[in-house]
Amino acid sequence: MKKGVRKIYTEVAHTYDFINHILTVGFDIYWRKKAAKNASEGAGTLWLDVCSGTGEMAQSLSRCAGSNVKIISLDFSFPMLLKALQKRRVKNITFIESEARRLPFPDATFDLLTISFATRNIDHKRDFLISHLREFLRVLKPGGRFVNLETSQPSSRLLRKFFHFYIRRIVRPVGTLISGSKAGYSYLSFTVPRFYSPEEFSSLLRESGFRKIDSQKLLFGVSAIHTAVK
Ligand SMILES: C[S@@+](CC[C@H](N)C(=O)[O-])C[C@H]1O[C@@H](n2cnc3c(N)ncnc32)[C@H](O)[C@@H]1O
Repeated sequence: MKKGVRKIYTEVAHTYDFINHILTVGFDIYWRKKAAKNASEGAGTLWLDVCSGTGEMAQSLSRCAGSNVKIISLDFSFPMLLKALQKRRVKNITFIESEARRLPFPDATFDLLTISFATRNIDHKRDFLISHLREFLRVLKPGGRFVNLETSQPSSRLLRKFFHFYIRRIVRPVGTLISGSKAGYSYLSFTVPRFYSPEEFSSLLRESGFRKIDSQKLLFGVSAIHTAVK
C-alpha cells in the first residue's frame, strides 16, 4: 500500500492545494494556522513537520516561529516536496525526502513534531499506526510536544452521515475531475469515514506512550487537533 500512497501523491501533487482549499472552502488553511499557533507556543527551537507534503503546515509554523527556530519539512513524495519548494521562500525551512516510519534522526532531537492531514495515510492497521507514533515519540526530546491535525468524526450521527455523504458524493467526484486521479480521491473517500473519533485517537496516543493528551474538535468534529507530550 505504501507504494500506492506514494503513487497517489505523485498524481495529485499539481492540484493538491487548490482542491483542498476549494473543497473545504478554506477551512484547511484556517485549521493549519490554528494548529500551528497552538503548536508553536513555547515549543523550543527545533521543529519537525512529518508528511509535510506541499509544505502548507511548515509554512504556517514558520509564520509563528521566532528567528532562532529551525523547521524540517519531511515527506516521502518528491513531487509534493517540489511543490513546497516552488512556493514563495519561507524562512527557516529545510526539506527532506524520507519515510516517516524510520525517521533519519537520533533519539530526542526535536522540541516539536507536527503532522497534518496525513495520519490517515499511515493508518493501514492500528498496530502500524502505533509503530509510527512511537517513532515520532522517539525523536522528540523529553517534554517535547506532538501536534496532530486530522479529519475526525462528528459526534452527532446526523452530521457524521452528512459529512461522509459530502466526502463520497462531492469531494470524490470533484477531486477526481480536477486532479485526473481516480485513485487519489477514491483513497481519500475510503479513509476519511473510517478514521478515528477524537476519543479513539487519544487512546491510541496513550497506548503509544504519549502523556498529557488533549483534543480540540473543529467544525463540530469534522476535524480535530490533538496535542500530546513525550
Ligand atoms: C494529505 S497529504 C498532507 C500534506 C500536508 N501535511 C498538508 O497538511 O497538506 C499527505 C502527505 O503525507 C505523505 N506521506 C504519506 N505517507 C508517508 C510516509 N509513510 N512517509 C512520509 N510521507 C508520507 C504523502 O506523500 C503526502 O505528501
